[in-house]
Formats: sequence, C-alpha cells, structure tokens
Amino acid sequence: MSDEIKSSLPTPPADPQPGAVQSNLPIWIVVLTLILVFIGGLYFDQHGGWFKAQVYGPYASADQLELYQPKSGAAAALAHGKVVYEQVCGLCHGVDGLGKPGQAPPLAGSEWVTSAGFNRLAHIPLVGVNGGIKVQGKDWNMAMAAMGAALPDADLASVLTYIRSSWGNKASEVTGDDIHRIRGTLGTHPAPMSGDQMSAMPE
Ligand code: HEC
Repeated sequence: MSDEIKSSLPTPPADPQPGAVQSNLPIWIVVLTLILVFIGGLYFDQHGGWFKAQVYGPYASADQLELYQPKSGAAAALAHGKVVYEQVCGLCHGVDGLGKPGQAPPLAGSEWVTSAGFNRLAHIPLVGVNGGIKVQGKDWNMAMAAMGAALPDADLASVLTYIRSSWGNKASEVTGDDIHRIRGTLGTHPAPMSGDQMSAMPE
C-alpha cells in the first residue's frame, strides 16, 4: 500500500472498543472441539456394536438375531429348547419357570426337574400327572395332560435339557435317544400317573 493511500485513510481511534472484554478462548478452539465431538460421535455410532436394523433386517433386535444364529451341539439344543418350552409349557409354568399360583407348580428349583436321573421327569410330559404332587414341600392337587407326548423326541429332549439348566437349575442334558428309549417303554395310550406312582418309579 502506498503512503499516499495510507494517509488518506481515517486514523483508527487509539482504543477501538473501550468497553469490550476480550475472550480468552479463541473461537477456533471451540469450533475444533465441536468438530472432534461430532466425528467421535459418528465413529462410536459405526463401531460401537449397536444393533443396526438396516443391517440385520428382518430381525428386530439383537436377542432375536441371537436366537436364529446357527449354533451347534448343546447350545443349539438349549436355544431350541427355550423356544419350544415357551410355546408348549411356559403358558402354565411361566417363562421364568416360577409356576403360577392355581395353575402350575414351579420348575425352577423343583426336585422333579433337577433329579440326577430324568426317567421320572420324562414321564411327566409323556404320560401326564393326575392328582397330588409335592413340589418343594408344597402340595399341588391338579392335573397336567401329556403336554409333551406329541412332541418329537429331539424337541422334548431339548425342552427337558432347557428346564434342567435354566433359572439356577443345574442338571445333566437329556438327548433325543433318551426320550426315544423311555417312550418305547410306554404303551400306545399310557394312562396319566399320580404323583405317588411317579415317586415310586426309579429316578
Ligand atoms: C395346561 C398347563 C400346563 C402345561 C401347558 C404344562 N404343565 Fe406341567 N404341570 C401342570 C400342573 C397343573 C402340574 C401339577 C400336576 C398335579 O398337581 O398333579 C404340572 C406338573 C409338572 C411337573 C412336576 C412338578 C414340578 O413343578 O416340577 C413338571 C416337571 C412339569 N409339569 C413339566 C412340564 C413341561 C416340560 C411342560 C411342557 C412340555 C409342561 N409341564 C406343560 C400344568 C401344565
């Protein structure tokens, strides 16, 4: 700029804004911080492992996806057992296995479910129970039809494995072959048994 133009400009006042307080925080730091927070948010969203409906459709939740993941061996039997249990038994015994007053006794903690052997246990859904049965010291005087008789061996086995290893229960697995063998000892139209008859059978 030449001296001539410079001298033609008005001279600025000595103190341009006497009342203004200068900010200590430069504006570029504020902007940079906001940009970094935004980029961080995008990164977390994409890499945080959240369930993404667009990616996992038609599944609606991580739980549902888990249910349909291919599994093998014991994990597969358990996942399948849970599904069948909730469809066939859960209505009365509860999805939490706690039973329902006036409807069905609990399976969680039940000595019928957690016994070392599963011969008696398998008879319950195969032939049904009629009349009194004691569960954890409490008398139940109702009846359960042969709710598992129509299930294929493998399905009933996985239901029993599921109830023997859920809600704090810890007992051995039941296989389709086991159910096949026990079913083979029953007649074509086995009569329901009483709790006492069940108790008299080998565990
Ligand atoms: C319509 C309701 C109903 C359904 C469905 C049902 N149960 Fe039961 N269950 C009962 C009742 C009621 C008793 C008690 C019977 C008695 O008092 O003699 C019982 C008793 C039992 C017992 C012995 C007692 C105990 O609590 O441990 C077991 C084990 C059992 N059920 C397992 C099953 C399984 C496995 C299924 C699914 C395949 C099933 N139940 C489906 C009503 C039901």
